[in-house]
Amino acid sequence: MNYRAPRGTNDLFPSVAHAFSWIEEKAHEVFARYGYVLFETPLFEQTEVFARGIGTATDVVGKEMFGVYSGAAAAKFANGEPLKADEQLSLRPEGTAGVARAVLQNGLIAPGAPALKLWYTGSMFRHERPQKGRLRQFHQIGVECLGAAEPSVDAEVIIMLVRFFEALGLPSESMRLYVNSMGDTACRPAYREAVRAYILDHTDDLCDECVRRAETNPLRAFDCKNPRCSEIMDDAPAITTMLCDDCAEHYAAVRSLLDTAGISYEENTRLVRGLDYYTRTVFEVQIDAGLGAQNALGGGGRYDGLIEEFGGKPTPGLGFAVGLERILLALEAQGTVPSKVPTPAVFIASVDDGARDAAFALALRLRDAGCAVELDHQNRSLKSQFKLADKLGVAWVVVLGPDELASGTATLRSMETHEEQSVALEELPELLSASTPAELN
Ligand code: HAM
Repeated sequence: MNYRAPRGTNDLFPSVAHAFSWIEEKAHEVFARYGYVLFETPLFEQTEVFARGIGTATDVVGKEMFGVYSGAAAAKFANGEPLKADEQLSLRPEGTAGVARAVLQNGLIAPGAPALKLWYTGSMFRHERPQKGRLRQFHQIGVECLGAAEPSVDAEVIIMLVRFFEALGLPSESMRLYVNSMGDTACRPAYREAVRAYILDHTDDLCDECVRRAETNPLRAFDCKNPRCSEIMDDAPAITTMLCDDCAEHYAAVRSLLDTAGISYEENTRLVRGLDYYTRTVFEVQIDAGLGAQNALGGGGRYDGLIEEFGGKPTPGLGFAVGLERILLALEAQGTVPSKVPTPAVFIASVDDGARDAAFALALRLRDAGCAVELDHQNRSLKSQFKLADKLGVAWVVVLGPDELASGTATLRSMETHEEQSVALEELPELLSASTPAELN
C-alpha cells in the first residue's frame, strides 16, 4: 500500500483517542464550575476571518494556513479567474477568530448582558514543520469569554486554566505560568515603534528575518528561536515600562488577584504570543518534561479589539487554548497517562455451533441490561474463545453448551479465581450488570 497519512497528521489509536476524550471530560467538569458551555464553529471559514482576526503579518496567516477549494473554485483558480470572498476558504488554524465571527454574526452578545462563556474542542490545522509536539493537524481545547473587560475575568480565566491542569494531574509546580501585558491601542503603537527602532539599531546582530520584522511586525522578533537574537532581544525595551495608565492599572489588578488566589506565575515582558489580536493580558503555560522545543502546553490572553475588527461594536474578549497532543506528552513524561480504552466485562463462549444462536441472543440481553459483552463471531473453537476472552481481559466468561441449553442455565466462570458455577439464564442480566466479581464469589 502506497498511501500514507499526510505529513504532520496522526491516526488517533484507541489509547490516544480515549485519553483525549478523558481530557475533554475533565474540561467539562472544570469549565462548568466557571460557567462555560460548549460551542462549535466550522472547521473552515472564509480566509478573511483568519487574515483579519489573527493578522496577515503573523506566521500562522502568512505561511501556515491550508486553503480549502471546492471543485468549482479550483477550476476557476486554474483558469486564472478571481475567486469571490466566500470561495476563498481556509481550514481553521485556531478557534478564537471563528468564535468571534460566530458571536458577531449571530448577535450572541446583547448590550448589558452577562459575559458569554464558551468552550470548544477540536482539530486545528497549521502547515508547520512537523516535530515532537508540533503537527499539521492537532487538537485544541479552547475557551472564550466575551463581553467582560474587568481584570477579575482575566484572573478567573487564568485560575481556571491552572485548575484544569491540576485536574489532569499536572501540578502547577511542574510547569511555569508566564504573564505579561501587551498594552492597547493607546500605548502599543509607541512600544511597537520603540522595538522597531531597537531592531534597526541592532541589524548587525540580528538574523535577516528579525530585521525584516522591524517593518512588518517588530514584536515577533521576541519569538525568534535563534539564540543570538534571543540574547539581543532580552535587552529590548520592556512593554511594561511603556503601558498607559489604564493598562498598567488593569495589569496590576490581574496580578493582585492571582496573588490573592495563591497562583504562582512569573512576569515575562518578552511574552508576545504569535497572534496579533492580543491586547493587555497575555499568558502561557510551559512545561519542559516530555515536550522538548515545543514546550507551550497552552496560552491565551485578551483581545478587546477583535470583534470591532470584524465590524462589530467594541466588545472585550479573552480566552486560551491548550494542545491535547502536548498534554498527552506531558502526562506520558510523568508516567500518568490514564488507560481509558473500554474493555468488555463478559465474554460469552459457545461450546459448539448449536449454542451460537443462544449466545448471540444472550449477548443482546446482557448488553441491553447495561453489561459490556463480547462474543465470538468467527466460529472459533472453545479453546480459542477462552484465549480471546483472556486477551480481552474480561472478568467473566459465560459458557453455553448442549447441557446448559437443555437446563436453561449457563456456566459462569470467573477469570480471576477460575471458579465455575451454574446460573439460571434469566438471572444472568441482573447478576452480571449489578454484581462485582467479589460479591459473586
Ligand atoms: P496558540 O498559542 O497558537 O493559541 O495555541 C494554543 C496551544 O495549541 C499551544 O500552546 C499548543 O499547545 C497547541 N498548538 C499550537 N500549534 C500546535 C501545533 N502545530 N501542533 C500541536 N499543538 C499545537 C491559540 O491558538 C489561541 N487561539 C488561544 C486563545 C484563545 N487566545 C485567546 N483565546
